[in-house]
Amino acid sequence: MTTQISSLEFTHFPVMLSEIIEISNPKKGGVFIDCTFGGGNYTKALLDFPKTKVIGIDRDDAVISIARKMEKNFKNRFKFYHLKFSQLEKVCKDNVDVILIDLGLSSIQLQDFKRGFSFKSKEKLDMTMGLSDNSAQHAINNLSENQLTLIIKVLGEEKDAKKIARNIVKARTQKKITRVDELVEIIEKSKKKNYYTKINPSTKTFQALRIYVNKEITELINGIIKASKLLKPGGKIIIVSFHSIEDKIVKYFFSNFSKNKSKPSRYFPEEVNDNSILFENYNNKALKPSQKEININNPSRSAKLRFAIRNKKDFFYPKSFIQKFKKYLDIEAIYV
Ligand SMILES: C[S@@+](CC[C@H](N)C(=O)[O-])C[C@H]1O[C@@H](n2cnc3c(N)ncnc32)[C@H](O)[C@@H]1O
Repeated sequence: MTTQISSLEFTHFPVMLSEIIEISNPKKGGVFIDCTFGGGNYTKALLDFPKTKVIGIDRDDAVISIARKMEKNFKNRFKFYHLKFSQLEKVCKDNVDVILIDLGLSSIQLQDFKRGFSFKSKEKLDMTMGLSDNSAQHAINNLSENQLTLIIKVLGEEKDAKKIARNIVKARTQKKITRVDELVEIIEKSKKKNYYTKINPSTKTFQALRIYVNKEITELINGIIKASKLLKPGGKIIIVSFHSIEDKIVKYFFSNFSKNKSKPSRYFPEEVNDNSILFENYNNKALKPSQKEININNPSRSAKLRFAIRNKKDFFYPKSFIQKFKKYLDIEAIYV
């Protein structure tokens, strides 16, 4: 299924847009970075406020034409960079008011069956978001059984990872696995039928492969560290995440490097070392889409929005944050 580029614009339904606008407060103007431009919905909503300047970033080359059109319509107020957000320092140096990261896939990517993200596809196993040096096909046909087990278990939180990995290796000794439907068949044969869940049996394995192929956790960790460096005092970083690994990382970063970080116990004295914090404040409880939004756009149901406000202190590199999630970074670094 291929879609005309011109019709891609706004085919992605934006998640929690009204909350994004309320928290980022574009009415008073300022510099905004939309790190995950996608269908351009957040960017467009920010540009509708006349005093804003927006920088858009996306790794997907399918959205470049949408962004270039927007650059023409908003001369001097919008600039797009085809980059990964782990390369944020390439777009500006400091003084940013708001940085937005809306994680995961866009509908533009999911609905284009040629890209291999949807388990309804019968096309090539690709799963690259753009600017990736790997593919699901390469991973499936070259990683060892143990490596596949680790990736599917940890990045997909799939309890049948071992069986799925074993059956992938068995199948590829007969014939190279090249198409999405071939992988779906292997996964379905590896898992017991569960009549009590509506979740597709391939969901977790596909999530794992997509995260691995695009090094999504490495991107997230480096991206949010760099975003914190670019924000001005009082500037906000807003993140919408869609699965538990992403949310765990965002929650840890905001809560552990914030002034209002939670104390180990209410009996402990308030003792926050000012030199170890990057944020003045953060929202302790993640915001979720309203039932009304979920009814209109079902994929939004798993979204969680968190934000934090940069403090006045100079940036420091949060080494302990990297250390904490090294397990994921090491898995994403596996390459054969
Ligand atoms: C959920 S969509 C964003 C949709 C957008 N907020 C909208 O409402 O139109 C996520 C987008 O982020 C992009 N993306 C994901 N990871 C990225 C990364 N590390 N660097 C740059 N872009 C990334 C994807 O290619 C995709 O286009």
